[in-house]
Amino acid sequence: MNNKLFAVGIILVLAVFSGVSQAKNDDVSCEGVPFDRSCWLNNLYPGQKKAEACAGCHGQDGNSAMALFPKLAGQHPAYLVRQLMAFKSGARTDLSMQSIASSLSDEDMRDIAAFYSEQGISANSLSEPEVTEDEDDDWGDSEEVAENSLSIEELIAMGRDLYRNGDVKNKVSACIACHGPYGQGNKPAVFPRLASQHADYLIKSLKDFKSDVRNNNPDSMMHMIAKKMSDQEIEAVAHYISMMKK
Ligand code: HEC
Ligand code: HEC
Repeated sequence: MNNKLFAVGIILVLAVFSGVSQAKNDDVSCEGVPFDRSCWLNNLYPGQKKAEACAGCHGQDGNSAMALFPKLAGQHPAYLVRQLMAFKSGARTDLSMQSIASSLSDEDMRDIAAFYSEQGISANSLSEPEVTEDEDDDWGDSEEVAENSLSIEELIAMGRDLYRNGDVKNKVSACIACHGPYGQGNKPAVFPRLASQHADYLIKSLKDFKSDVRNNNPDSMMHMIAKKMSDQEIEAVAHYISMMKK
């Protein structure tokens, strides 16, 4: 009997304490707002709190402001978890992500991924890629420099063609086959969503696949594809994808 009472007492104490910390959390994120979506999500997704550690780079809701920090909003949760595990194990390398991912448990990863996957991804504006017009740095081969005087509209048209039809001559597969007509990816197959991602991050990823810096992808699918792409094709398809909305 006593034991039972003791147990009830403990449960009450725990309930009070968790009630207190719950109230505190709500105070922080629901400040002065009678009904706030993020407050509501906080209760649905324990990952929202955990994701605060990521906000400095990836944005509060997974829409990062800096083009080299990927947007995580709307991404398929299994893909996010897989990447976090790859950073943790060292299979995918990035200095900041490796130490951050090492501090996450499997449960943390699942919670955070669930939160981000439910956020809407923000659209990009067309003003980003002026590099191509003003400077002929970075994009490699001298013969491609001349072609780089393509306008952004021409570049996007070229990217669209590559995305939808591939490049028959160089045997580059059409991206649409795996990443879908709207860049929405394929959730069951864990093909990531790409639409509205930052162009600069897409370019970096494709170059990392191409040079084998990023080589943890299943069956080297992306490595085999990126290896056959020219730097200009990478740039073109990245700008096209960054403007896709869904
Ligand atoms: C100091 C900045 C920084 C912080 C903080 C940070 N990240 Fe990242 N994250 C990056 C960068 C940079 C990359 C891109 C790495 C690359 O280029 O391969 C990245 C990539 C990722 C990716 C891969 C996305 C993709 O599309 O493949 C995931 C998932 C991710 N971060 C999750 C997180 C989570 C979860 C946290 C918080 C627990 C976090 N990050 C905190 C900088 C950061
Ligand atoms: C056969 C299926 C397949 C095709 C075709 C394909 N991809 Fe992928 N792609 C994948 C898979 C699988 C991944 C995830 C790799 C991983 O888990 O590391 C991926 C990842 C990516 C990423 C990294 C996304 C991120 O958030 O870091 C980019 C960028 C990308 N693909 C672009 C393309 C482009 C551009 C094309 C067309 C030229 C293309 N893919 C064609 C399967 C494919």
